[in-house]
Amino acid sequence: MAKVKIIGEQPLHGAINISGAKNSALPILAAAVLLDGESIISNVPQLTDITTMVRMLRSINILAEQSGGKIRIVNKKQVKHLIPYELVTKMRASFFIAGPILAKVGMVRVPMPGGCAIGSRPVDIHLKGFQALGAVVSLEHGFIEIRCKKLKGGQVNFPFPSVGATENIMMAATLAEGVTTIANAAREPEIVDLADLLNEAGANISGAGSSTIVITGVSALHGVKHAVIPDRIEAGTMLLAGLITRGQITVNNVRPADISALLSVLSETGARFEIENNSITAALGARWRGAQVVTQPYPGFPTDMQAQLMAYLALAEGASTVRETIFENRFMHIGELQRMGARIRAEERTAIIEGVAGLSGAEVKATDLRAGAALWLAGLAAQGETTIYGVEHIERGYEKLTEKLSALGARIKRIN
Ligand code: UD1
Repeated sequence: MAKVKIIGEQPLHGAINISGAKNSALPILAAAVLLDGESIISNVPQLTDITTMVRMLRSINILAEQSGGKIRIVNKKQVKHLIPYELVTKMRASFFIAGPILAKVGMVRVPMPGGCAIGSRPVDIHLKGFQALGAVVSLEHGFIEIRCKKLKGGQVNFPFPSVGATENIMMAATLAEGVTTIANAAREPEIVDLADLLNEAGANISGAGSSTIVITGVSALHGVKHAVIPDRIEAGTMLLAGLITRGQITVNNVRPADISALLSVLSETGARFEIENNSITAALGARWRGAQVVTQPYPGFPTDMQAQLMAYLALAEGASTVRETIFENRFMHIGELQRMGARIRAEERTAIIEGVAGLSGAEVKATDLRAGAALWLAGLAAQGETTIYGVEHIERGYEKLTEKLSALGARIKRIN
């Protein structure tokens, strides 16, 4: 098992480029099933989750070649309807390919999805959406089978603005007959990026980024060239790395508006920013103050920044509360931060944090991607050495992490 060792208390300084968004690249690669001919997707981060999606495309008869941050896709053969168990159980986002396959082939057979251990993550909202477009869903022997010769546009009302379900239904509806309206759609920037790609390919989608998306079906989509948007979660995490070490870093290749909820919480704690078109510089005075935070669907505070923010608040002056409303079981990092001297307790879905003056290095374990990010942030700030096990979780979402942090002055080493 690989691990990372960090010697803390080194202030980070300098500038780094933020990679393309994993959560945009994944559905965009899934959308390749819908695009006939050749497509080139650029600004794709090199991460294990992306490799899994590339393997998934290959497994259903689509050529996908990865070269650095570019992926060339050629979709000319009959797409297969069966998704391999081994890939789906690795990554929940594999299920995002179900909608495109269903729309293209008329049926899809997919094993029940797996992914990060952050609470039960059902796919019922996706399935009800497919049913609203005329599909028949059956569950047997651990497989979900969805059938419909030709999807028909319909009214889809989500009980909750699920990101993945919005993407899945939006993709499926591009090739349905007639008009589909998604009400209570998720509004994340990644959904707008996906809709932009589909529209460039000939789809007719309006309203992406608002809570009502209207898709008028077309008969076919063609190949495109598209660059993935920057990763707002990596940008936010790197800004925290600068702040938590009392350094000053600039993140380049970002879209500041995408992280305004984070910036407003950090401003409350005393951080100051210089914001330009596509870069942000963050710095602090002395110690920062606590804050009260609630995770919400976009444009609210993102659940994917909750663990990292908690590491930062663990070192704030005074008390903070963080309430997690999106996932049931997303406090696995609390126990590990406690090992490093943090004073945090959970009461149901709220974490109560009493800020401490310092953390101390310890051996800790990353249980999921963002919990792992909270630990490397804590390790950068802590006194002494921190060893983080479960690095493969972190590598699902942070491209070239050790190289990027080393370039900013961190003392960090990956050990196989
Ligand atoms: C996406 C992101 C993930 C982020 C999450 C919320 C990707 C690849 N992943 O995940 O990083 O944390 O959005 O911002 O983009 N739910 C149901 N039934 C469903 C679908 C979801 O009950 O059919 C629940 C989930 O269990 C969870 C909540 O809805 O409690 C949010 O899930 P959702 O927005 O669907 O997250 P993902 O798309 O899986």
